[in-house]
Amino acid sequence: MGQSSHDQKVGTYFDQAAATFDTFYDAKRSGFMQWVDRQFRSDVFNRYYLTFEALEPLAGKTVLDIGCGSGPYVAEAARRGAARVVGLDMAEGMLELARRRVAAKGVAERCAFVQGGFPQAAPAETFDYSITMGVMDYVADPQAFLTALAKTVRGCSVLSFPSHHWFREPVRQVRYWLKRCPVYFYEPAGLERMAKEAGFARAKIVKMPGAGMDYFVTLYK
Ligand SMILES: C[S@@+](CC[C@H](N)C(=O)[O-])C[C@H]1O[C@@H](n2cnc3c(N)ncnc32)[C@H](O)[C@@H]1O
Repeated sequence: MGQSSHDQKVGTYFDQAAATFDTFYDAKRSGFMQWVDRQFRSDVFNRYYLTFEALEPLAGKTVLDIGCGSGPYVAEAARRGAARVVGLDMAEGMLELARRRVAAKGVAERCAFVQGGFPQAAPAETFDYSITMGVMDYVADPQAFLTALAKTVRGCSVLSFPSHHWFREPVRQVRYWLKRCPVYFYEPAGLERMAKEAGFARAKIVKMPGAGMDYFVTLYK
């Protein structure tokens, strides 16, 4: 699959899924769905808390959120005092929700959005920190992604990577195949190797607790 047709598939899927995905945040789902999310999608919440634990203090810093989706991390980074936060996403439907979110939170003047896929649409400026949560699942060339990331970020980068799992991996592959969206999985030795080759000095890799299928990875320059 060529890069542009690959990105088109991912972008189309997330454009269609934007409104549903956004309901994960701010307790917008029904009571039953919130219970389902707590049982089976706790990674989504764990990585949010781990991100801000890793990046504080954010005051005065610049942040790039790659695959920002509907903008929960962009809004929170700005609320915590970041000087400038850029959200980049290939799905325009997600960016529309993100613009609304930062406006509603009163932080829009310190936020900007770019539509496109990373690394092709990497901004020319550099940032103190980057956030890439729930995105590497859909990246066909993670080595090119990390190499571009190392050039774009001066400080540390936090990312989530889905792990291989005997049951969840094939189930997810079938679900996403039906949705025509490609999905990828990782293991720690491969992550270490790619991070080193990309130019990062150190990688901290933590398997997340709970539903625990993701690695929470912090990369240091
Ligand atoms: C599961 S959502 C996660 C959104 C957000 N980071 C969060 O955790 O709430 C994945 C998002 O990544 C975007 N995406 C996937 N691959 C991307 C890439 N290479 N560059 C930019 N955005 C990408 C999708 O369009 C989608 O909005």
